[in-house]
Amino acid sequence: MRTVYVNGKFLSEGGGVVSIFDRGFTMSDSVYEVTSVVAGKMLDFDPHMARLQRSMGELGMPKGPGADALKAIHLKMIELNKLDEGLVYLQITRGVQDRNFELPAADNALTVVLFTQARPVVESAQAERGIKVISLPDLRWHRSDIKTTQLLYACLAKDAAKKRGCDDAWLVRDGLVTEGSANNAFIVTRDGLVITRDLSTELLPGITRKRIVELEASHGYRLEQRAFTIAEAKAAVEAFITSATQFVMPVVEIDGAAIGEGKPGKFSVALRKLYIEDTLSRAGIRR
Ligand SMILES: Cc1ncc(COP(=O)(O)O)c(C=O)c1O
Repeated sequence: MRTVYVNGKFLSEGGGVVSIFDRGFTMSDSVYEVTSVVAGKMLDFDPHMARLQRSMGELGMPKGPGADALKAIHLKMIELNKLDEGLVYLQITRGVQDRNFELPAADNALTVVLFTQARPVVESAQAERGIKVISLPDLRWHRSDIKTTQLLYACLAKDAAKKRGCDDAWLVRDGLVTEGSANNAFIVTRDGLVITRDLSTELLPGITRKRIVELEASHGYRLEQRAFTIAEAKAAVEAFITSATQFVMPVVEIDGAAIGEGKPGKFSVALRKLYIEDTLSRAGIRR
């Protein structure tokens, strides 16, 4: 049995209960973050918390627990659950209120919950094979830069991909790829240029995306941050996605068209290795 965290208490998972009147439940009035854990240590915790504060600010939520308090809770969760490798999930909602479209008063207590999931993060059979994606219209709202729990369309997109024998979906708005269902999208052109969409309200500013952009700059890769089409992606020699739990994941097929040789490309494989080495070493992990 896992230990979960609900509003100041560490409880056995069966006892972790949130009210049916919680606005996270009735209105998706709620934000979240997912932090990967390797060798019992969190990866890139600070930027995840900075993004959480930003998400809450953009939604006009009252200030929640500070980064230090949240760090202490995360560390306690890792300790209590003896989490070696996996993730810590954090969700903060605008709290309990009789169902109402009007936002509650600023002093309404926020709901804060955490749980852990043990799972391999670094070793990935999927990364060896690469993933297949389909393209779908991006039907999400226009504030995808805020990490809210309005994830229904992402789930439907993933389900549509599975039903077509693929792994994930790239979302397209006005003919241009915004991002993956729960990840950022990259392509590599024939002449070695790496392209990922520039940040705006249409996509999540991925923590992994930022790290990859920095790594590419410091390693002399040519990178362009701009929107691209599915046609450009299909003509690319490599493609990949990034996220906190998938790191750098090669994409080998888009809408049935093989990318490059239809297997993880050299660049994506090397970048995944570089990202893992750099991230683990910055977290003080030796493997
Ligand atoms: C829509 C979306 N884009 C991008 C990402 C990748 O962000 P990060 O690298 O911070 O995990 C996520 C992660 O959940 C996401 O949900």
